[in-house]
Amino acid sequence: MNKDLELKTGEIVVIRHLTKSDVDGVWFNFNEVVEEGDYLPVFFPVRSQLEKDAWYHNIKKDHEICIVAENSDLKKPYNIIGQCEVLNSDWDAADHVGVLGIVVRNKYRNLTIGRNLIDFAIRESKTLNNKKKIILSSFSTNERAIHLFKNLGFEVLGVRKKQFLMDSNYIDEVLMELWIDDYINQNLKK
Ligand SMILES: CC(C)(COP(=O)(O)OP(=O)(O)OC[C@H]1O[C@@H](n2cnc3c(N)ncnc32)[C@H](O)[C@@H]1OP(=O)(O)O)[C@@H](O)C(=O)NCCC(=O)NCCS
Repeated sequence: MNKDLELKTGEIVVIRHLTKSDVDGVWFNFNEVVEEGDYLPVFFPVRSQLEKDAWYHNIKKDHEICIVAENSDLKKPYNIIGQCEVLNSDWDAADHVGVLGIVVRNKYRNLTIGRNLIDFAIRESKTLNNKKKIILSSFSTNERAIHLFKNLGFEVLGVRKKQFLMDSNYIDEVLMELWIDDYINQNLKK
């Protein structure tokens, strides 16, 4: 089921599952964040169509969740203005654990798209992929992301000191988790 969201700018955004035709938009957003250099421990943008398509096929094959935010007034691929994935853990015995990643296009940040994407993705990962717990990590310098995650109920488990080296500066990694049933019980009205 899709969700319509009206931004304070008056724009209407649809929150929905990823389709094949969204792939270029999703990677455009990811690459933009890589180029910002402030939020992800990745140095190089993904340009290969093969790699982008393989990512899509793996998501669908493994029943992983990718939720996108679409502004259908914009031309493809710019219509996809954010995305949130909940991917499977690498470990057999952690099949109940989803690993969350999120990106919102620069121009569309601080408009509640992130909160809505995460809410939708958490719920769908329980219903469609049997997840019980969501984990994530963030640069300790990413104050907006940490504020949002805490606001949604994520708890800080700990910090890996100097986990990343970006532009000759060490950055700590903050590890967080959330139990989905606790989240749903605390947000029953939605
Ligand atoms: C982090 C991100 C996904 C959040 O999405 P978003 O759409 O901007 O988030 P929302 O608008 O739903 O919520 C942002 C919240 O952060 C708050 N915020 C904004 N700047 C902040 C700052 N510098 N410090 C603390 N809080 C801040 C906003 O006020 C809002 O909180 P509120 O609802 O209590 O008012 C988005 O900003 C983004 O894509 N950033 C770059 C990529 C990234 O950091 N990804 C996550 C990697 S772990």
